[in-house]
Amino acid sequence: MQTKIFKVDPIEPDRRVIVRAANLIRSGEVVAFPTETVYGLGADSTNDRAVEKIFTAKGRPSDNPLIVHVSDLRMLSRIVERPGKKELDLISYYWPGPLTIVFRKKEVISDLVTAGLPTVAVRMPSHPVALALIKESGRPIAAPSANLSGRPSPTRAEHVMKDLSGKIPMIIDAGPTEFGVESTVLDLTGEYGVILRPGPITAEDLAPLIGMAKMYRLGKGERPLAPGMKYRHYAPNTKMVLVCGGPNGIVDKINRLAEAEVRKGKRVGVLCTDETKGRYDERLNKVSLGSRFSPYMLVRNLYHSLRTLDDMNLDLIFAEGFPEDGILATLMNRLRKAASKVMEE
Ligand code: TXA
Ligand code: MG
Repeated sequence: MQTKIFKVDPIEPDRRVIVRAANLIRSGEVVAFPTETVYGLGADSTNDRAVEKIFTAKGRPSDNPLIVHVSDLRMLSRIVERPGKKELDLISYYWPGPLTIVFRKKEVISDLVTAGLPTVAVRMPSHPVALALIKESGRPIAAPSANLSGRPSPTRAEHVMKDLSGKIPMIIDAGPTEFGVESTVLDLTGEYGVILRPGPITAEDLAPLIGMAKMYRLGKGERPLAPGMKYRHYAPNTKMVLVCGGPNGIVDKINRLAEAEVRKGKRVGVLCTDETKGRYDERLNKVSLGSRFSPYMLVRNLYHSLRTLDDMNLDLIFAEGFPEDGILATLMNRLRKAASKVMEE
């Protein structure tokens, strides 16, 4: 299959491209499209055969449920049971945007989407291209990130092309995504709110509306709440060691660890920041996430930086750790998942 890329303006996308993509969705095909978080691989969530194609193209395990994307509240009410007051408050405050909420699902949603769960995770994306595509197709669109399973999520159309070229018919390219990391997934179906996946909207952001939500952590030998959580995600192909500690300590520690590797003839990379970049040994391959004074930028650049490091043919990558609150908790969540080893303080 030949994969066609269509470039569009992110704010005023060419309608002909949207109609073409919507026709593919309605006919049971998959389409890669931009959202404000990452690029998604979309299919009609009410069509089993279409949803199957997502799992096939990505090589994704079928027990990992998908997020469904809607363009308005009428579409939401077609697919979920009546939301509670807290959910409605969150919806009116944060939708459209990078917040995914878990609801009790209605029959129409394919069981493949939810991996047999009685619930479905839904969000209303704010990206004009995503909204236009959902609206034009008239279908709630199931869409995981448009990467091969286990690879960093795509924040640019080139990333999608690299992973899925030849496997999908169409990619809509609207340039780099705004947040660069997947949406926050929140479950309010229990007694208190649980953040199943930290994202652009932080626990601190949610607190005024729902109180401080618990961050979900999987205990050893425990059954995961969301099936997908058991998988190691976002991994670069190169081995990555995440080094935690105070910012000064970290640089010294990485320089020391890297020195030993360089002496063995290894090619070593460092995932660092603008502020620390100049303090690493010249023989190291440095990639900066951006400035520590713009923490959302660090998150936005993460997946692209991981892919950049991966393409440098290194033997080993060291990544700097960050304090785990606010948006940096989201960054650390992804760094921990990408790392093959974590060195705590
Ligand atoms: O930002 C995003 O959310 C991106 C873009 C494309 O919108 N989409 C995305 O979708 O990341 P996906 O399908 O990869 O996210 C699936 C994750 C699962 O691994 C699980 O953590 C959670 O969403 N999830 C899905 N359905 C669930 C359910 N019924 N109950 C609990 N968690 C669920
Ligand atoms: Mg994903």
